[in-house]
Amino acid sequence: MHKTKVLFVCLGNICRSPLAEALFKHKVTQAGLHDSFLIDSCGTANYHVGIPPDARTIANAKQNGIDINHLGRQFSMDDFETFDHILVMDKQNLKNVLRLTSKEQHQQKVKLLRSIDTSDDENEVPDPYYGTEKDFQHVFEVLDKATAALLYQLK
Ligand code: 4NP
Repeated sequence: MHKTKVLFVCLGNICRSPLAEALFKHKVTQAGLHDSFLIDSCGTANYHVGIPPDARTIANAKQNGIDINHLGRQFSMDDFETFDHILVMDKQNLKNVLRLTSKEQHQQKVKLLRSIDTSDDENEVPDPYYGTEKDFQHVFEVLDKATAALLYQLK
């Protein structure tokens, strides 16, 4: 059976993309589509390889009823082949991923996650790393909406 393969990408793979992965997995499972998708996340940087997401992200997600299970990994060239959709959080992530390849068939897989939802006025997911609890909650709400729009588009 063909699976739709979705990769979420941020800088560190400890705040935004592991939460996007967990939210999207949750929605896919709720929709009964678990077997139709392969879902993962990674970072463009290698600072947090092999470690769990930021404790603030885990705690905030839990307060919102979402469990996160992920260990950090860095984006690799193989991801351009493996995944159908590579959804990045901000324009810096976009630049960092696009500059790794000159192949059109790779580049066309890469999109800003927030650009999927055409009713969303913004197209970047802000980095909460140096922020407060309020910023983590904002990121949760943004990603909740963005991953819902993504599932609507892909299913
Ligand atoms: P993320 O957030 O890209 O959403 O995982 C960040 C995590 C770590 C750092 C920056 C952003 N850092 O500089 O270590």
